[in-house]
Order: sequence, then C-alpha cells, then structure tokens
Amino acid sequence: MCGIVGYIGPKDTKEILLKGLEKLEYRGYDSSGIAVMNEEGVHVFKEKGRIADLRKTVDFDVFANSGIGHTRWATHGVPSRTNSHPHQSASGRFTLVHNGVIENYEILKREYLQDVNFVSETDTEVIVQLIELFATEGLSTEEAFRKTLKLLKGSYALGLLDDQNQETIFVAKNKSPLLVGLGDVFNVVASDAMAMLQVTDTYVELMDKEIVIVTQDQVTIKNLEGEVISRDSYVAELDTSDIEKGTYPHYMLKEIDEQPLVMRKIIQKYQNDQGELTIDQEILDAVNEADRIYIIAAGTSYHASLVGKQFIEKMANIPVEVHISSEFGYNMPLLSEKPLFIFISQSGETADSRAVLVQVKEMGHKAITITNVQGSTLSREADYTLLLHAGPEIAVASTKAYTAQIAVLSILSYVAAKSRGIELEFDLIHELGIIANGMEVLCDEKEEFESIAREYLTVTRNAFFIGRSIDYYVSLEGALKLKEISYIQAEGFAGGELKHGTIALIEEGTPIIAVTTQESVNLGIRGNVKEVVARGAHPCIISMSGLESEGDTFIIPEVHELLTPLISVIPLQLIAYYAALHRDCDVDKPRNLAKSVTVE
Ligand code: F6R
Repeated sequence: MCGIVGYIGPKDTKEILLKGLEKLEYRGYDSSGIAVMNEEGVHVFKEKGRIADLRKTVDFDVFANSGIGHTRWATHGVPSRTNSHPHQSASGRFTLVHNGVIENYEILKREYLQDVNFVSETDTEVIVQLIELFATEGLSTEEAFRKTLKLLKGSYALGLLDDQNQETIFVAKNKSPLLVGLGDVFNVVASDAMAMLQVTDTYVELMDKEIVIVTQDQVTIKNLEGEVISRDSYVAELDTSDIEKGTYPHYMLKEIDEQPLVMRKIIQKYQNDQGELTIDQEILDAVNEADRIYIIAAGTSYHASLVGKQFIEKMANIPVEVHISSEFGYNMPLLSEKPLFIFISQSGETADSRAVLVQVKEMGHKAITITNVQGSTLSREADYTLLLHAGPEIAVASTKAYTAQIAVLSILSYVAAKSRGIELEFDLIHELGIIANGMEVLCDEKEEFESIAREYLTVTRNAFFIGRSIDYYVSLEGALKLKEISYIQAEGFAGGELKHGTIALIEEGTPIIAVTTQESVNLGIRGNVKEVVARGAHPCIISMSGLESEGDTFIIPEVHELLTPLISVIPLQLIAYYAALHRDCDVDKPRNLAKSVTVE
C-alpha cells in the first residue's frame, strides 16, 4: 500500500506533489507528507489524516524545484505525524519516502545502526539511516543507495533526496509498483501514472531491483551493480476524465453507474472482425491443456472468482477450485497433474496473490492474470493477461471491477467451451447486451435503493445477506460492500446453512436481505426467509422478474440464469452506498482500508 510521488523541474513542486498524492490517496490515507528541496535545504511537511489535512500544514511560501511525497497506509507504527513519511537520516542530509515492507529491518538495525537514535517506529527509517551510514563511510550517494538496497529483504518503491545533490532524485523499486514520467525539462516519479497525468502521459516502467537517477533533463536506469539499462517509454492510455468524479458526489456512485458502459466495452474489446467473441489462442491452449483450473484471488475478486468457477465448470466442463490467496500458501491443495492458475485482481498488485503467483511459477505452472491494470505486477509476471477494460477504479469499494471480472470470466468460459466443441445454447454477446440494459434500468432506480437503505440499515448494528447457489456468492459480495463502507456488521450466508447456527443471531428487526434469481432454489430461499421472519427478522427480498412473489421488496430485470450475478449485485452495491451515506461514512475512503493491498 502507500503511494509515492516525486518531481524535479522548473515549476513549484509543492502543488504538483500534493495533487499527485490526492490521486494516490486510494493507496492509503491515514497520514501523508512531502519534502521539497531548495538552496536552503530540505523542507518537510507531514500530517496525520488526509492530504487535505497535509495541505493545511504546508508553507506555500517555500519555493522548490524538486521534491518527494507519500500517502500512507500504516504497517509498521501507528498512523501519526512522526511515523508518516518522508523520513530523514540523523543529520537531515537524506530524506526518503517508501512504499512496501522491509522484512529484515530489525536485523539491519541491530547489525549496522546500534548507535543511531531512531525517531519513528517504521521499517523505512532503517533505509535512510543506512544510506547515511554508508555515505559517511565515503561512498557517493548512488553507491550508498545501491549498497543499502542490496541489504534489504522485502518490497520497496523509494524516492530519495540528498541535500548535497540538489539536481537529483534517486529512485528504486523492488516488488512495489513505480514509474518514472517524462516531461519537457522536468521528470516525475509515481506509484501510478494517474498521479502525474496532470503533467505528463509518457512513462517508463521500472523493473525490480533497479535504481533510477532522475534529473530534470535525464532519466538513467541502472541495475544494482550500477550497469546502465535502456528502456523505451510508453504513453499511458488514461483519460483525465476517467480519474475525475465529474458531477458525482462520490467515485463509488460514478463507478456503479459506469457498469453498463463497461459491459459494452468488454463485449467490443473481446470481439473479432467477424463479430465473434475471441480469446488469444495461446490462452485457449493453456486452458484446454489443463485438467483443473485453480483461481486465486482476494476480497471482492474472490467473490467474482466463485461465480467464475460456475461459468468455467458449466460452460467449458473443466473442474475449478477457487482459493483465497492469503491462505493458499499454507494450505496448498494436492494439485492435479496439469494445473492452470488464474489470478483475478483489479489492481494486479495484491501482495497475497503475487506471493502465490511466485510460488506456482517456481513450481513450473502456467498462469493467467485477469486484471484492470495493464503492466501491473501480476500481469507482468503471469504468462498471459486478460484485461478488464473497466477504466480506473478509484473508490476503495470495488464495484465495476467485480462485474467486469465476471463478464471477462464468462467470455473466457464461453470461448473455451466453443473451442472444446461444446455446443452452448445461447449467444453470450446478446446476453451481455441484455445485462448492460438491465444494469441501466437498475442504475435509474437509485431512489428505491436509497429508501431501502434508509428503512433497513440506518440504525441497525448488523445485517445478513442470504442466497442459495450462485445467489449465495452475490450475498457474500453484498455483505462485503455493506460492511466495508458502512461499518455495519454484515455477513453473507448460504440460505440452507442458517439453521446450522447463524439463525441464533436473529433478533426482532434484524435486517435480512435475500437474493433470489434461480428458479431451482427460489422456493428454498423463500423457505429460509420464512424461518427468519418467524424469529423477528425484517426481510428485504430482491427477486428476479419471473420469480417474484407478493411482498418482494425489489424486482430486478430478467437475464440469462447463469449471468444473474452481473445484475443482482447492482441493488446490493447501491444499498451499501446509501447505507454508508445515511450513516455519514466516508464512502470512497472507508477507515483502515486501502485500494491496493501491497503487503502480505
Ligand atoms: C472490496 C475490495 C477488496 C479487493 C481485494 C483484492 O471492495 O475492493 O476486497 O477486492 O483487496 O484486490 P484486487 O482485486 O486488486 O486484487
């Protein structure tokens, strides 16, 4: 987690850094800081809280042509001004921002830095103190930096200022994302191109264990041995309007509303000139060679994967297991003879998933990443990538990436099935088109969901979501959406499982949100609703047209029975959104969370 930025050039640095950090707040937002350098030295401004709080502490009279900035999601040390970055070496000569985790920082502290007085509780401070130690022993800044990097175990994206070297920002990367942006007589550094689109759309990707010496005219990439590496730049295909809220009060609402558009874009991106859905032959070969597919993901992406398992098994007839990435390493199942791994990740940076990818690649297995971010770590390190084409997702609570993941998984399953000679009795392009229209209908019904949220979720301390079969997976996602942004304790359950324990939690007025989109389980889930109502629950039934009963709270448009999660999730996203709003929560940046979870 955490996001870093840097700028060197003729303009005043502070505003560029602050604007960049605002765009990176999704990566962490419990504290932040910038350091800017001019002939008087380095000026550091830090604050606990959001970038808006940091702005209040910055002295805008200080003019500087270079600087670095950081927005934090705390790992080592509580969120506080002291623990926030940038961190400085004992003499104040070196100033550093860091995204990542240094696993051996305590060992390094004991081995090299016994005499140093540490100010913060962070792992980062060890890095900057080591650089100073090696510089005082006579090494140049670059040499001291490289020597330090060779000692570090863990992940880092680093930006370093040296007040004796005013013309340069030193940068390094290992496992954490980092880009250098190129400008006309200026250069920038950022964890994500979004942060610096304000000044440039041209970037150079960095690889692990590389350092970069950035001046306003030059960018020199080297490996840790000091050998120069040449690398082409690329133009980031991002539109500034993609990353602005426009007239929306929150990114989450904008992203919910974008879902019909994303569906249509996915159909278009995965269509060939003949108008048929298509997937790269290499990917299809990998799928068809596999005797079992293992899908690895976390959080919302895990919930999308559960739906994906149904698609792959029902359409392409290949057995699938779905695993939570943070558990896979300890509980690796007995793998089949020809396993294929699919990693599903909006950000493409989730450290838990990456750890599994590294592990299975070492075992010699093939991997596909399904991600929203081209060039992300998981995408680079897997054998193949399928893109979500959902556009940047900025709200911490994932919405359009979830439906995009399900849509792409449906296309993969459909095309794989056809390539295996399996006759499917529906036209997926047509069905996804119906989905897009249905999503539009639902997005136009916002006042309905606002009033459901007001009636059921304004005062409650808990809420349960229930479903059977594929609706159960959507219930899990509905509960996650609600809990992460409204802080209501919400859980998703398989309807039939209630009586095995959970029903004990039902009290007078407990909200139960039941989803029913499958004819085969409609009566079953309605039976479960009756059981909880008999014990005082307040039921909200969301059913699909054709399966409705008297008293249902909301009826969603009818779509193909396999694809219902794409549509039944929309009411749950909107109900969560309005519940959080009614409870005065920070919808886009819920407490304790960050958008990309780059620590294990
Ligand atoms: C919840 C949410 C998270 C992510 C999870 C995995 O709304 O967004 O649960 O789904 O952290 O992230 P990615 O998909 O980036 O790997």
